[in-house]
Amino acid sequence: MNVLVAFGTKYGSTAKVADAVASELIARGASVEVVDLRERIPTDLDRYDLLIVGSPVFIGKWTKPAQEFLRKNADALAKKKVALFACCSDILFEDKVEAARKMYLEDVAGSNGLEPVAMGLFGGEVDFAKYGMFTRFLLSRVGAKEEMEKKGMDISRPYDFRDWERIRKWARDLA
Ligand SMILES: Cc1cc2nc3c(=O)[nH]c(=O)nc-3n(C[C@H](O)[C@H](O)[C@H](O)COP(=O)(O)O)c2cc1C
Repeated sequence: MNVLVAFGTKYGSTAKVADAVASELIARGASVEVVDLRERIPTDLDRYDLLIVGSPVFIGKWTKPAQEFLRKNADALAKKKVALFACCSDILFEDKVEAARKMYLEDVAGSNGLEPVAMGLFGGEVDFAKYGMFTRFLLSRVGAKEEMEKKGMDISRPYDFRDWERIRKWARDLA
């Protein structure tokens, strides 16, 4: 089985999720190519049996390269087996998970005419120390900083809420 794992990322945490997904598939005999969509947007998808596309979410949206990959390849992807995953911080808030799954996965699939064989909603990393002033201001404006503090989180610390066992299981089920 030839698989493409194509991912968007800004700060790097989604790259590690893509690698973990790829490792599980390789361990089950698949031939896997992992592509950082900031570097190139593949358009020749004929040789893949399964395409896994993932992105982190920034202010409700997939990264531009990940959106571009889906848009540019919409016709080809509609004929292929596709799985989507999204990494986000909303997974931390029980009352937001359902809406997050809809906005970050189902709506992304729908607006690109896709019927994915699987959709995975995963956590990400949040580290205010890595962000510039504008990003910190933005996160404060959208209430993210306050929500995390309300949850008892100390935003001067980095948080990693990727559940590796869940991510690997999702990949194993796909294989
Ligand atoms: C400016 C900014 C906006 C974000 N907006 C959202 C959002 O709307 N919804 C969400 O669930 N997570 C949001 N997040 C959390 C990111 O999805 C999370 O940090 C992700 O792991 C980043 O992935 P990357 O390290 O691959 O770039 C935001 C993070 C930042 C820094």
